[in-house]
Amino acid sequence: MAEVVEWLSPTPDGCYVDCTLGLGGHTAALLEAGAGRVIGIDRDLDALAVARERLAAYGDRVVYVHADYRELPRVVREAGRDDVDGVLVDFGVSSMQLDEADRGFSFRQDGPLDMRMNRTAGPSLADLLADVNETELANVIYEYGEERKSRRVARAIVEARDAGALTGTASLASVVRRAAGGGKWTRIDPATRTFQALRIWTNRELDGLEAFLESAVQLVAVGGRVVVIAFQSLEDRVVKHTFRRLGQEGSTVRVLTRRPLMPTVSEAETNPRARSARMRVVERVA
Ligand SMILES: C[S@@+](CC[C@H](N)C(=O)[O-])C[C@H]1O[C@@H](n2cnc3c(N)ncnc32)[C@H](O)[C@@H]1O
Repeated sequence: MAEVVEWLSPTPDGCYVDCTLGLGGHTAALLEAGAGRVIGIDRDLDALAVARERLAAYGDRVVYVHADYRELPRVVREAGRDDVDGVLVDFGVSSMQLDEADRGFSFRQDGPLDMRMNRTAGPSLADLLADVNETELANVIYEYGEERKSRRVARAIVEARDAGALTGTASLASVVRRAAGGGKWTRIDPATRTFQALRIWTNRELDGLEAFLESAVQLVAVGGRVVVIAFQSLEDRVVKHTFRRLGQEGSTVRVLTRRPLMPTVSEAETNPRARSARMRVVERVA
């Protein structure tokens, strides 16, 4: 939080976009630090409702937009602007999405096989699982979850599906644990990687990421910054390569973080979900 505010150094005449408003934590910090205006985007209507309540005291300094951040250029244009003074992206799921069993993200509780961040559109995990074949599913689990036992896990899921035994996230988690963990328990739940993969698949999280980051950079005014926090290596890799490429091509952008910023030991202790976060920042220079 402190670093986000520091890197964006908001000013009262500045307009910033929080592409992942979530529960409004970062936006509240930016407003408190003096940001004139924040355009808050989220694809999750429940998150927008919570943020709206939490940030009510800031009145029209916050504009709430239900959209996918990949529509950023349209959102900024419709807010009546040609550019903005900073952009923040805090990838991933919010704690509310993870903690509410009925959203279907959690392998610790039982819920429907949903996993959609935007429940107003798109196929749910159950819809996708109903149609997928074993090979496709193994590829998803390998690519998005970096799960070495992807084939075994995919086979187990497809068998459970065909037997009518996939009734929710709890039964899915136990099928995955059996296939991936082989009965052994490690520090990390053996269902973690597969659940990550299924979430990325359901929400198409890696699609169009590079184009989105480029559009964010193009939308900030000279001197403005784009701050990105990624929680998993697949996303961070795209951020790193895109920023590096933009920093080389025509030098419209300067990469301010040669290495990603990571949480300090004490931050990781007080906020365990931030453990794997990586922050990268670029500045528009021309
Ligand atoms: C890690 S949370 C953000 C938390 C937020 N920074 C805070 O301080 O409360 C990520 C949020 O981004 C949203 N999100 C993820 N992908 C999105 C996308 N493609 N477009 C818009 N919102 C997205 C999720 O719905 C979730 O609410």
